[in-house]
Amino acid sequence: MSTEDLRFRPATAEDLDRVLELHFAAFTDDRSATERRRNFTANPLGSLADFVLALRGEDIVAQAFLFPLEAWFGGRAVRLGAIASLATAPEVRGQGIATALLQHLHVTSDVRGDALTMLYAFRHRFYARLGYGTTSSRKRLAIDPAAIPGAWRTLARTRVRRARSEDKDLIKRAYVRAASRTSGWLTRTDAFWDRHLSRERRQFLVADSGYVAFQLRQSEAHAATTLAVDELVADDDVTRCALLGSLAAMRDQVAEIELEIDANDPLELVLLDPDGRRFGTDAVEHDLGTIVGGPMLRIEDVPRALEARGYPADGALDVVVHGAAEELAVSVRVRDGRAEVAAARGAAAALRTTRATLASVLYGGLRASDAARLGLLDADARTLARADAIFALPPIAPVDPF
Ligand SMILES: CC(C)(COP(=O)(O)OP(=O)(O)OC[C@H]1O[C@@H](n2cnc3c(N)ncnc32)[C@H](O)[C@@H]1OP(=O)(O)O)[C@@H](O)C(=O)NCCC(=O)NCCS
Repeated sequence: MSTEDLRFRPATAEDLDRVLELHFAAFTDDRSATERRRNFTANPLGSLADFVLALRGEDIVAQAFLFPLEAWFGGRAVRLGAIASLATAPEVRGQGIATALLQHLHVTSDVRGDALTMLYAFRHRFYARLGYGTTSSRKRLAIDPAAIPGAWRTLARTRVRRARSEDKDLIKRAYVRAASRTSGWLTRTDAFWDRHLSRERRQFLVADSGYVAFQLRQSEAHAATTLAVDELVADDDVTRCALLGSLAAMRDQVAEIELEIDANDPLELVLLDPDGRRFGTDAVEHDLGTIVGGPMLRIEDVPRALEARGYPADGALDVVVHGAAEELAVSVRVRDGRAEVAAARGAAAALRTTRATLASVLYGGLRASDAARLGLLDADARTLARADAIFALPPIAPVDPF
């Protein structure tokens, strides 16, 4: 069936009953109607006007958020469209409706000037066919608290304290400083912070230049307790060690600490027996946790995507983006951390890749040389070395999934 008859518009309060009905049909977890309603009326990432509906006649047949957010890449806050809660009504699945809604969202995001769209995919293949690229994975360590160096617990005694309400600004400022050094951390609004800080089960410990936020989980009384770290933010290594030491000091209560770190973080190398009393298998003697896949990214306007982020090194190269229906060649010159894009000068040495892989290289923490090793990108060795230096980006490790 054709999708040409679809109309798109932002949701309003009158649509909420149908929106909730569709949400219940698409996301069948045990969230209550009240919780789901709050997802639309008091979402920390945006408003109901950011929720876009696809209608056939008067009937709402699909829906999704397109939040206007900013996230940090290469030391610059970059505007992005964050897509979430995509759902098509069960009776009209497989007709291309979600695809048409996504294409509408891509255009909307492009027209308002975003450099990329980002989403957490239920299945990568579904979005890959629409030009989305993958991003670096994170390590989700499952750590016996006793594995954390004892000296860090000693550090914690002098440096770490319980957060009080007057520490809100310290926490917010520490986050902003840290976010600007990361790939993919969001610029948080006041509404976001209000929600974040008032979560009943979330606890904060602070140091002068950092903090750790975590939640304790226990399935029933007397069962093992897990401490899940929501975010660990520190300006310097000593503060980070002290904050980890303060978590280690909870080892009488806590059986395991869950902590996500980026792919390049060497933390597990200092932990002695992080797998504690977990036992291995014939193939894996020490299982330290899980590898977690990152969000997916898509770029619509290639020059804008190239110019929006910050860069660690100066240099110039040509980029050719090719696909089934396109071949676009541009020349990129980076000076003082900013890129300028012009029509390609036709230099022989260029990176040749797809739109999806360019998204992964520019914003997803994929090195150009690694993309070449995976058969996703072509360039000669000198151009690859130059691209690795110019495009270098810490692995993406966002802390606020949507
Ligand atoms: C995911 C969902 C939105 C898709 O809606 P839809 O309107 O049926 O999707 P479309 O018709 O546009 O796309 C279906 C197409 O994608 C393909 N497809 C569907 N799932 C796929 C997958 N996991 N991998 C690859 N392709 C997939 C289908 O084969 C079809 O391709 P075709 O058009 O060539 O036959 C719908 O199934 C849904 O609401 N699911 C529950 C909620 C959910 O998981 N949302 C995603 C949150 S990220």
